[in-house]
Formats: sequence, C-alpha cells, structure tokens
Amino acid sequence: MTIQAQILALIKEIQEELGMALLLITHDLNMVEKIAGQVHIMRQGRIVEQGPTAEVFANPRHDYTRHLLNSVPHGVPEPKGALPLLLAASRVRCHFPIKAGFLRKTVKLIKAVDEVSFAIRQGTTFGVVGESGSGKSTLGMCILKLVQGKGEITYQGKNLLALSNRQWRPLRRELQVVFQDPFSSLSPRLTVGQIVGEGLGVHGIGSRQERKGLVEEALLEVGLTPEMAERYPHEFSGGQRQRIAIARAVIMKPRFLVLDEPTSALDMTIQAQMIELLRNLQARYGITYFFISHDLRVVKALADDVAVMQEGRVVECGPAARIFANPQHPYTQKLFAAAFNLRAD
Ligand SMILES: Nc1ncnc2c1ncn2[C@@H]1O[C@H](COP(=O)(O)OP(=O)(O)OP(=O)(O)O)[C@@H](O)[C@H]1O
Ligand SMILES: [Mg+2]
Repeated sequence: MTIQAQILALIKEIQEELGMALLLITHDLNMVEKIAGQVHIMRQGRIVEQGPTAEVFANPRHDYTRHLLNSVPHGVPEPKGALPLLLAASRVRCHFPIKAGFLRKTVKLIKAVDEVSFAIRQGTTFGVVGESGSGKSTLGMCILKLVQGKGEITYQGKNLLALSNRQWRPLRRELQVVFQDPFSSLSPRLTVGQIVGEGLGVHGIGSRQERKGLVEEALLEVGLTPEMAERYPHEFSGGQRQRIAIARAVIMKPRFLVLDEPTSALDMTIQAQMIELLRNLQARYGITYFFISHDLRVVKALADDVAVMQEGRVVECGPAARIFANPQHPYTQKLFAAAFNLRAD
C-alpha cells in the first residue's frame, strides 16, 4: 500500500507536469477512486456505465456497478471472546546468508525475520501486513518449517522448531498452506483431483475409493463441482485455482492454515466470494488462519488480531479493532493513511 501510494503520487505528479491524459486499467476500485476523474465500467466487452468517478461511486445506476461496489470488502469479524492459545512465537529469527565469490564466503546476512514474537488464539484469524520484502512469507514458512527458523514456536505445548522430522510429520497434516500465487502453486501435470487428494495419499488416509469421495466433498465445499476433478489447472480461472488451492488445504482438516496473499490475484467480486468462503470454513471447522496480505481492507474484514511487519520485525501487534482505530507506530500510521485516506481531488 505504501509503495502503491508512492507510485500513484508519482503518476499524478508527472500527469500535472506534462498535462498528460491517463488511461488506468485496473480491478482495484480503491485506486480508481484515488486517481481517476472519470470512470468507465466494463463487462463482457461493453461499457455498462460511465461518468465522473465520485458520481458513479456515490450513485451507481447499473446493476453490475452496484455489485462491483458492494464487493469491496466490508464488515469486521464478530468478537470471538476468550479462546485458548493455539500457537505462540517467541523471538523467532530467520536469517539468510548471502554468499559470493570463489570460496562462497558469506558477504551479507539478510534478516528476513528478526526477533518476532506473537500469540494466536484457536479459531481466530491473525492478519500479517507490511510492505513487500518485510518478511511476511518467510515468517509463514518458518511456522510450517519450510524454511529453517530459530527461536521458539509453541504449538499445543511443543516447540515446532525443535521437533525432529519424525515428530513433525504427523503434525504437518494439521498445519496447511495456501501459497501466494495461484498460477504457479498448482502442478500443471496433475489433475485437480490428484492435486486436492495428494495430501491424503501422503498421510495414508482412506482407501482409493474413500479418497475419491473426500476429494469430491472438498471441491463442493469450496464451491466447485466434483467433475472438475478430472481436469487440469490451466483450464481454470485465477479465482477457481485459488479455490482448488484452498480445497487442497482444507481436505486435510487443518487446525492452522497459512494463507499467503490468497486474494490479491483476484478481481473484486471473486475476492468478496473468497472472503465469504474463508469466513464460512472458519465458522464451520474453527480453523485458525495466519492471513498474510497487502490489502488492508481484506485484513480488516477478516482479522481478529493484526501484526504489522517492517524489515523483518513486528513493529505493532494486537487486536485488529484497536490497531485499525488507533494505530500507534508511525509505520502503521503511514501504511493505513496510504490504504484508507488518500482520495482523488
Ligand atoms: N531464500 C532466500 N534467500 C535469501 N533471501 C531471501 C530468501 N527468501 C526471502 N529472502 C529475503 O527476505 C526478505 C523477506 O522476504 P519475504 O518473501 O518474506 O517478504 P514478504 O513480506 O512476503 O514480501 P511480499 O509482500 O512481496 O510477498 C526479502 O528481503 C527477501 O529478499
Ligand atoms: Mg510474500
């Protein structure tokens, strides 16, 4: 958001300086509101509505425009009351050595995650925000032991970071992930059924026939249909792929799910459906989400607690309602100002 605001400010500056006209093509309505004087809404090859942005946004005439504007994430999660702790991180570090030269000497240490501590209650959503490169994905990967972290991550009384592979394997089923990019995270060589069912096979769950049934159930659960199991990922849209990735995770009945930018590749109406789906799955199964996102409006709509990261550190952490209403750290204030306040004049 801060980088986006900088780029928008730069474009506006150049525009004023050169008296340049600008055609901005986007599905980010927030950006349209900030930068465009006029807006045209397209659907299936036609312009269904056009006019001054402020007017169209305040008074949409076409059904599709209304649908689009209603799709902006809204609402906040219901307060969930006192819930037991599920996962607590204490002084977690993940440093990457950068090696160079003939002897592969370490020339630099990137502190991707540096002395990070937080606690997550069961059945809640823990939002992680912060600009590109601040260490959000690395922190998620540390929890899943997909990169090697140091410090302590306590999950149901066990320090995950100290477990041997053998001790870790049965837990792996409970901690699942939906990766950042729906276009590269699904193998093009496997059918959707194979992708969604793979974890069941790995963990030796069910017979062949039972697994097939579970895959069909999982597809239905995320709003897809059972016959899609026979098809390949490239035949699906971004939103459908993201649903496949979610089906692959929820089929394992996880207690803890890392969602790394699960909505950022999606347009507004699909994004709204995805938020609804995640809310429903959480309500039904009490899954705890570790929700990484650049989009503060999505985080506001979903997260019970929020951690704000900057350069590998958590600069602010606490209940989402408190942080959104009253951000304390200057970086959080800057991030929120960029996301919520700046408007086109
Ligand atoms: N395997 C690696 N080797 C070296 N450096 C890495 C590695 N993985 C990540 N980094 C560095 O660690 C820092 C944090 O990266 P990370 O991917 O966690 O950021 P992020 O907050 O998820 O960013 P984005 O919002 O763009 O996804 C970056 O400076 C990145 O270049
Ligand atoms: Mg990332």
